[in-house]
Amino acid sequence: MPASSSGTAAVAVRTRREGAVLVATIAHPPVNALSVEVRRGLLQAAEAADADPEIAALLLVGEGRGFIAGADIREFGKPPLPPSLPEVCNRIEACRKPVIAAIHGPALGGGLEVAMAAHYRVALADAKLGLPEVQLGLMPGSGGTQRAPRLMGLQPALELMLSGRHLDAQEALECGLVDRVAEGNDALAAGLAYALQLLATRAPVRRTGEGVLAADIESARATLKGIAADTAKKTRGLFSPLKIVEAVEAGLDLPFAEALRNERQLFLQCIDSPQRAGLVHAFFAEREVAKAPETRSAKPRPLASVGVVGGGTMGAGIAVAVLDAGLPVTMVERDEASLARGRANVEKVYDGLVKRGRMTPEAKAAVLARFAGSTSYDALAGADLVIEAVFEDMAVKHAVFAELDRVAKPGAVLATNTSYLDIDAIAAGISRPQDVIGLHFFSPANIMKLLEIVVPAKVSADVVATAFELAKKLKKVPVRAGVCDGFIGNRILARYRQAADYMMEDGASPYQIDEAVRAFGYPMGPYQVSDLAGGDIGWATRKRKAPTRDPRARYVQIADRICERGWFGQKTGRGYYLYPEGARTGVPDPEVLAIIDAERQRAGVQPRRFGADDILRRYLAAMVNEGANVVRERIALRPLDVDVTFLYGYGFPRFRGGPMKYADTIGLDRVLADIREFAQEDPLFWQPSPLLVELVTQGRNFDSLNHPAD
Ligand code: NAI
Repeated sequence: MPASSSGTAAVAVRTRREGAVLVATIAHPPVNALSVEVRRGLLQAAEAADADPEIAALLLVGEGRGFIAGADIREFGKPPLPPSLPEVCNRIEACRKPVIAAIHGPALGGGLEVAMAAHYRVALADAKLGLPEVQLGLMPGSGGTQRAPRLMGLQPALELMLSGRHLDAQEALECGLVDRVAEGNDALAAGLAYALQLLATRAPVRRTGEGVLAADIESARATLKGIAADTAKKTRGLFSPLKIVEAVEAGLDLPFAEALRNERQLFLQCIDSPQRAGLVHAFFAEREVAKAPETRSAKPRPLASVGVVGGGTMGAGIAVAVLDAGLPVTMVERDEASLARGRANVEKVYDGLVKRGRMTPEAKAAVLARFAGSTSYDALAGADLVIEAVFEDMAVKHAVFAELDRVAKPGAVLATNTSYLDIDAIAAGISRPQDVIGLHFFSPANIMKLLEIVVPAKVSADVVATAFELAKKLKKVPVRAGVCDGFIGNRILARYRQAADYMMEDGASPYQIDEAVRAFGYPMGPYQVSDLAGGDIGWATRKRKAPTRDPRARYVQIADRICERGWFGQKTGRGYYLYPEGARTGVPDPEVLAIIDAERQRAGVQPRRFGADDILRRYLAAMVNEGANVVRERIALRPLDVDVTFLYGYGFPRFRGGPMKYADTIGLDRVLADIREFAQEDPLFWQPSPLLVELVTQGRNFDSLNHPAD
């Protein structure tokens, strides 16, 4: 993994003699990232070991938290300074004296490639070994694709590189990635003991690169063919996974040195790919969102017990998410029957895990021991944080918050999971608006990573900090949002869903739209999502908003016609699609197409043809334009907050980095030109965001707003 490093330690790799062993200690805090100083230090250590006749072995060991956590993020995007990592690894491997790597903590990416270039490896129990480059659209580029299969075997090595997974010490031992696992927590001592033992037994220099990649080349070729086909299917359109397979395959025929050169070429292709840029953006953005201003200015309040009001879809999911984080939960429902249903909703999740063998019945019982239910609000008197997830109705929310105001202890955080309602109004209804915040979870709340933290006008900073602390405990990705209709995600969603509905009435079928959106990289299209979530939810929202809708705005009634028939999607067996006998994947429904035709006639629309590209241009332009408005109004702090919201809550393909990053990639001038073109048909809907216009005029991109301090 790329790792952040600070300061330029005068000596990033220290060497000293321990008898006949030259100890090279990587000392580049905080995580021993592979900066140019570290690379240079490692190279010099290898040279020094060879040059000194009194040295019989070289030991590589990391100081501090781990061995080497990976590349140095400060060097990303800058011209590479010599020596390159492949050069360093090759020099280590070429050493004429045994080289031992003693690994504790993370040995990831380039860090593991260094370890694999050593001749012997010993790991402490806390070691984490992995080649996670694929997660950033990259591949191992310093011999990893050649050395890992030689050490571990073809299939395990590919599994490691294609999944980006970390192995622990024991797993690494079992697959041959390390030679032994040592007791204790002193990597230096373990490494020295191993080095002395190797010297005592006159263990030879052992160069991984001199081994063969596979004993039986023909069967290896067949295996690789299977893996390539499987990878192509699973990673749909991703570039670097196939390059990993290609690099390994080339190693079957090429001499080692040439296979390394080939790997480097493929690695550079990955570096140049826009997917790499998208994935790296996503990687940094998801770390950046956790740093809201309030997390710096305020300390979180205590967070030892949580109350949840409502045990429906969301309340139960939230309760599970909180229980999974190890906290106790008290659920309040309006009557015994609803409470029983709420409890059953919670238990169902754990029963599923037990059934699939992923949890023992004892573990389930232990988790549920932390779960309590009540029909009385008094049960929430001790809670540090209460999350309300009752019906989406302002009167009901006010009633619930009045009760919370009555029973909650002073300083308790009072949160609402509302999707659209005005949280300032909810807060204004009680005596302690400073304690009220929005915690907008996504369904299923125990699975979906996104948590929109919605910050109303009167909330205190420490309540916001507490919300971010909760996200951390729940292992969610928090995004700070301002109060408006739909916050960041649902507000933008409403716009591009509208654009999709317009296209549907203008001539595209929902099936075509879904297909185009999937081809872009989404797991599902908008009409499949609607069928999955239940069409009734959107219908209720549309009815609620009908009185305030701009009478001049175009309104497509197709969804209403479908809902009026009781076709709410999967749960009713039909929606936009047909779900014969409870099938989870729908098939196109000719009756839906007939409804759409009828609506086109009613609206006097002459249907026209839409290609996949036309569909995407409109869909994404609507998304990006509203994203720009959301940033301009400070509903989202930066464009990257919009990106993370869509990556984690709405299925936007990660390799494209998010909608705002995607817009930067294709060029904001192009997006603006599209919007102006579409505005000729519907100027009310397609109003260019002033922020988009401003950025295009100034020749800037969205990313320039992500780093205001630069
Ligand atoms: P739901 O209808 O499944 O559950 C609501 C629950 O609240 C019911 O079990 C009901 O008995 C209970 N309830 C109603 N009044 C109550 C009261 N006065 N005291 C205690 N319990 C009461 O609804 P769902 O889908 O769980 O939604 C809840 C909230 O979460 C809504 O504000 C919704 O907008 C929001 N939300 C929903 C999402 C979804 O995908 N369903 C996603 C994100 C937010």
